[in-house]
Amino acid sequence: MKPSIEEIEFHGLAALRLNGPKGSSAVISKLGAQVLSWVTPDGRERLFLSDKAVFDGSVAIRGGVPVCFPQFSDRGDLPKHGFVRTREWSESARRSGDDYALVTLETSDDAATRALWPHAFRLELTVMIEADRIDLELCVANTGEQPFAFTGALHTYLRLVQVEDAALEGLYGHEYRDAAQGNQICKDSGTELAVDGETDRVYHQVRRPQLLRAGNHSLAIQQQGFPDLVVWNPWVAKCAALPDMSPEGWREMLCVEAAAADTEVALTAGDEWYGRQTLAVV
Ligand code: BG6
Repeated sequence: MKPSIEEIEFHGLAALRLNGPKGSSAVISKLGAQVLSWVTPDGRERLFLSDKAVFDGSVAIRGGVPVCFPQFSDRGDLPKHGFVRTREWSESARRSGDDYALVTLETSDDAATRALWPHAFRLELTVMIEADRIDLELCVANTGEQPFAFTGALHTYLRLVQVEDAALEGLYGHEYRDAAQGNQICKDSGTELAVDGETDRVYHQVRRPQLLRAGNHSLAIQQQGFPDLVVWNPWVAKCAALPDMSPEGWREMLCVEAAAADTEVALTAGDEWYGRQTLAVV
C-alpha cells in the first residue's frame, strides 16, 4: 500500500492518520497537534498513551507527544507547559510519497493567547514518518513587531514494557538540573541512565544522540535546535497523584523530551526558529 493520509476520529477527536511505508503509521490529533500513536513496521506501538487520558480539551492529553509552548513546565507565570496543548490546530500541509507521509498543523496567537502572553506568533508542527523513523519538527515564528523569548518542549512519552528494564545511553558527562532533588545541578557520570525512582532531569546542551535500550523496543533518539533534553518518570507516588494515570502507568512510560527548558530561545520580530526530535528503530 502506498503511503497516504486520512482524516479519522481518535477517542472522539478530529485527527489525521499517516499511513507510512511497510505498515508504519502515526496519528496526530488536531487538539494540541499532539501525536498520539506511532506504530512501526513490526506492529509495535512506540508511544505511551495513558488509559485514563482525558480527550475533551479540559486538560492536556496524558501521553503521545504534547507540544509545550511558550513555557516549559511551571518555570514562569503561565499555565504549566504553556497553552497550546489544549488549542485546536489546523492542517496547513500534507504530502506523501513512496517512502514517507507528512503533515503540518499550525496555530497562531489570538485574543485568548494574547490575554496570557502578549506576543504574536505562529507555530507549525510537522510530522513525517518513514518506515522506521518519525521526525517531529516545531517551527516558531515571531509574527509581531517586538522581540520575544520562549521555552518549551516536544514532551515525548515513549512506551516501554517495563521502565525498570530500560536504560538511556548518551548523556554521560552532561550537566543536568535535578528537578526531583531540589533543582540541584549535577553532572552525569554513568554510562547509562537506569530509571529506578522518580526521575525529573533537565540535561543541558545536549548535542549527541541517545540510545534507549529496552529489549525489542529500543530506539535511537536525536534532537536538533532544542538545547536541553528532559527525562521524566513520575514513579509510584507521583503517578498515584495524577488523576489521568492508572496506578501502574509509570511502569510503561518514559518521557524523553527535546526541550528549551532552562535556556530560553529569543526571537526578534519576523524571525523563525526550528527544533526537531527524531526517533528511529535500531
Ligand atoms: C515534565 C516535567 O516535563 O512534565 C515534570 O519535567 C512534569 O516536572 C511533567 O511533572 C508533567 O507535566 P504535566 O503538566 O503534563 O503533568
